[in-house]
Amino acid sequence: MSTKKIHLTPFETTHIQYLHKWLNDERAIRMIGRTPLTYEEVVQEVEKKRMNNDLILGIKSDEKELVGWVFLKDIDYAHGRASIGILLSSESRGHGYGRIAMEQMIDLGFKQLRLNKIYLTTRGINEQAIALYEKIGFVTEGKLRNHAYVDGKYVDTYFMGILASEWNK
Ligand SMILES: CC(C)(COP(=O)(O)OP(=O)(O)OC[C@H]1O[C@@H](n2cnc3c(N)ncnc32)[C@H](O)[C@@H]1OP(=O)(O)O)[C@@H](O)C(=O)NCCC(=O)NCCS
Repeated sequence: MSTKKIHLTPFETTHIQYLHKWLNDERAIRMIGRTPLTYEEVVQEVEKKRMNNDLILGIKSDEKELVGWVFLKDIDYAHGRASIGILLSSESRGHGYGRIAMEQMIDLGFKQLRLNKIYLTTRGINEQAIALYEKIGFVTEGKLRNHAYVDGKYVDTYFMGILASEWNK
């Protein structure tokens, strides 16, 4: 895995066209979305994140311009915490890129932004994401019952977190 060249890069406005495609992928809609989004709606989503001072970075591989994005949102310096999110393009999933990108962002959050805790929420049906988060060291802190509605069913949402003290071990 360490041989894979993945690094984080600024997420530019010109990258929104890729994000639009990634978000409208069938799996992405099941795992993070609800319905397909227009390009304008995706532009508004990015704008909202920028207004919220979220840290948005593109995930770059050697071969491709961009394979995904990763962000820290709801950054709260008073409490030293932020929430992390990630989305890869469909063809870039299952190659270990998610782990490298998450680890780089978590490292940045703890060592550059001086956060004490990074947390996330994920749908309980997202076994791939949960496996990845557990491998990185996230702990499930709670399960929100019937918190999302996917394919005609209510599914649980997992709340997971990792502390700086656990990351530094
Ligand atoms: C979730 C996501 C970020 C994971 O990144 P990735 O690079 O594709 O992750 P990988 O598949 O390489 O690694 C995840 C691990 O889960 C395992 N895994 C894959 N599918 C699995 C499944 N159905 N059940 C259990 N484990 C699974 C893999 O074996 C891998 O473990 P390994 O490193 O020991 O091989 C990426 O697939 C993605 O962007 N998905 C769509 C959007 C999304 O769901 N975002 C997260 C929202 S919370």
